[in-house]
Amino acid sequence: RTLAAFALAAASTLMVGLANAADEPIVIKFSHVVAENTPKGKMANKFKELVAERMGDRVMVEVYPNSQLFGDDNVLEAMQLGDVQLAAPALSKFSRYTDLLALYDLPFLFEDLDAVDRFQQSEKGQSMMHSMKKKGLIGLGYLHNGMKQLSSSQPLRVPADAKGLKFRIMSSPVLEAQFEAIDATPLKKPFSEVFTLLQTKAIDGQENTWSNIYSKKFFEVQPYITETNHGLLDYLVVTSTEFWMGLPEDLRSELKSALDEAIIYGNQIARDKGIQDRQAIIDSKRSEVIELSPEERAQWVQAMKPVWKKFEKDIGAELIDAAYAANR
Ligand code: LMR
Repeated sequence: RTLAAFALAAASTLMVGLANAADEPIVIKFSHVVAENTPKGKMANKFKELVAERMGDRVMVEVYPNSQLFGDDNVLEAMQLGDVQLAAPALSKFSRYTDLLALYDLPFLFEDLDAVDRFQQSEKGQSMMHSMKKKGLIGLGYLHNGMKQLSSSQPLRVPADAKGLKFRIMSSPVLEAQFEAIDATPLKKPFSEVFTLLQTKAIDGQENTWSNIYSKKFFEVQPYITETNHGLLDYLVVTSTEFWMGLPEDLRSELKSALDEAIIYGNQIARDKGIQDRQAIIDSKRSEVIELSPEERAQWVQAMKPVWKKFEKDIGAELIDAAYAANR
């Protein structure tokens, strides 16, 4: 064959390739670390379902649960590199990208999810989602899990009971300070390692929501869970600015509506699971759920509250006041 024939063959292969690329659906990889039977797991699957129904010929969502694809320690970097398009890390896991979201880690800031909703839907709450745009990340919505409880190898009634114990924390300076405030030792570890760390007694305890303690079986290796409701575990559904802004506008707005719907669904699951999974743990009799008297709870508040002052400058006093005022 002549050189010209080769060139022609190469050019036509390239054109077919381009035509195929235009026809093929856009793939959105959604990576998360929790089980499927959780608020986030169900929300991700619902989003996939809605997208398949409404724009299945143009977009395909692939969900990777249980840290199968990425853990929370590397998912945001992977997103900046374009290896994953959607994730919903806990708000505690953005400290390398913004100081503002640390607000949500302040102990005893919100009384319940209604207060969290009021603040997140306010102008201030909404604008925080866009605080990482320059770093290439856009928040598309908040998603609830619920209030955190303290699980441990020993019964914890007052902060002094936690003294000297090792607790796994998410990667957050506020959470670190929170455990230091009660003279315990915080250890930053990925979610995927928590069960084994507890089982082998490499750590003594951890903080998490009822649905995470239940779905990841922490209650089977932690004989005590103290119902402290001391902090919030919520998520930011996040994508890369480059990916999101590169989508055709009609698709972007359809995807956003599907996501908003999936989040509403996930938030309802969060409320239901907070009740059901707590009861399932009690019924299992594997772990004792310790309820605090108002006096005992006041001791935890008193011990942990000084953490607010420590982060007031980074987060902003005005933002903290606004969030606290949402309790009404
Ligand atoms: C944790 O690491 O404990 C949580 O962020 C896991 C999750 O995503 O709920």
